[in-house]
Amino acid sequence: MQIVILENSEAVAAHGAEVFIQKLQKKPNAVFGLATGSTPLALYKKLIEANQNKTVSFSDASSFNLDEYLGLSGQHPQSYRHFMQENLFNHIDIHRDNTHVPHGDAENPITACKEYDELITQKGGIDIQLLGIGRNGHIGFNEPSSGLSSRTRVKTLTHATIADNARFFAEGEFQPHLSITMGIGTIMDSRKVLLLATGSSKADAIYATVEGPLSASCPASALQMHQDVMLIIDEAAAEKLQHKEFYKHIERENQKLMASLK
Ligand code: PGA
Repeated sequence: MQIVILENSEAVAAHGAEVFIQKLQKKPNAVFGLATGSTPLALYKKLIEANQNKTVSFSDASSFNLDEYLGLSGQHPQSYRHFMQENLFNHIDIHRDNTHVPHGDAENPITACKEYDELITQKGGIDIQLLGIGRNGHIGFNEPSSGLSSRTRVKTLTHATIADNARFFAEGEFQPHLSITMGIGTIMDSRKVLLLATGSSKADAIYATVEGPLSASCPASALQMHQDVMLIIDEAAAEKLQHKEFYKHIERENQKLMASLK
């Protein structure tokens, strides 16, 4: 795992956005795996800026989102399709048809899950998968006990996740308890994984991801088996890491090495 520890959430977003921008400059038809939640918002703002000032174009790029609430159509204001339109897609030059979010209102969600995985394969696989992390170590909606080789499927949310996301729903409004989510195996097939985490509420989950055992109790720990994973986290999210200074040392050495190769 490459662990990049930065001072604050602003630096995390800037570093993450730079990875996307560089990929897009090298590969204009890149396939991105995208995430919702609060964490990616600042990164999306930077991508919008880069697109609007013509540093990059998304006109040949495509995207697959991690998850969607089961029972909400893409028009619903709490749907993740709506979130992506509002916070990214409506502001960049990506083609709507090249953006994919699981269909929360699919007539047959089981078939829809299988088709989602097949479409990712047809498009050549995901170049960079962006992830946030839940306080319980979930990635996408892969809650603790999720199979570490699981594929896109219907998942039941934990009470903790429902409570964490209740802030987005009005009092008394229907809040789904089920989701469609890429599986951990689906995420692991991405060529590169970028996990962002900020704030001390994520410190336990980051500790379990990096220094805990490989275990379905912390779904993000599966990333220990991925060949190209970069964690970009702030000091607060890193505060429980036992070997934080070592990870910073590795990063400094990496940078020296990269500079010497330029
Ligand atoms: P957050 O959610 O970015 O809103 O903290 C992350 C997640 O639950 O995966």
